Amino acid sequence: AQTGRYEAENTACEGTVDANHTGFSGSGFCNPPNSSDTGVQFTVDATSTGTATLGFKYANGATAGRAANVSVNGTTARSGVPFGPTGAWSNWAIETVTVPVNAGSNTIRLSAATSAGLANIDYLDF
Ligand code: GCU
Repeated sequence: AQTGRYEAENTACEGTVDANHTGFSGSGFCNPPNSSDTGVQFTVDATSTGTATLGFKYANGATAGRAANVSVNGTTARSGVPFGPTGAWSNWAIETVTVPVNAGSNTIRLSAATSAGLANIDYLDF
């Protein structure tokens, strides 16, 4: 039920849209604040009800993970997804999680599980 790529700079980024680290797709990436429960929200379209794979492209130039929670339509679906270090803010990786979705429109929110905040988020492949 994959329907496309959702760029974080075109959605509800609860921080700044930055372009100061290379390697991003589109015109920039979302840099949420370094605080708990801040993040980025996407509205995605699912072709059917069931389990969907989410691929978040992110960079984490810090030395520790930037653990995240994933909610779908307001309900927490995954907690403490690691978003481990990528070595530099210009090195990007994909964090993959599976979540339940409904057919049609779904709200996916990625939020910081700790006060470190989220990694920088480039896009969601759904
Ligand atoms: C650095 C980096 C930012 C990043 C931030 C963080 O300031 O330049 O892109 O978001 O660290 O720790 O989250």
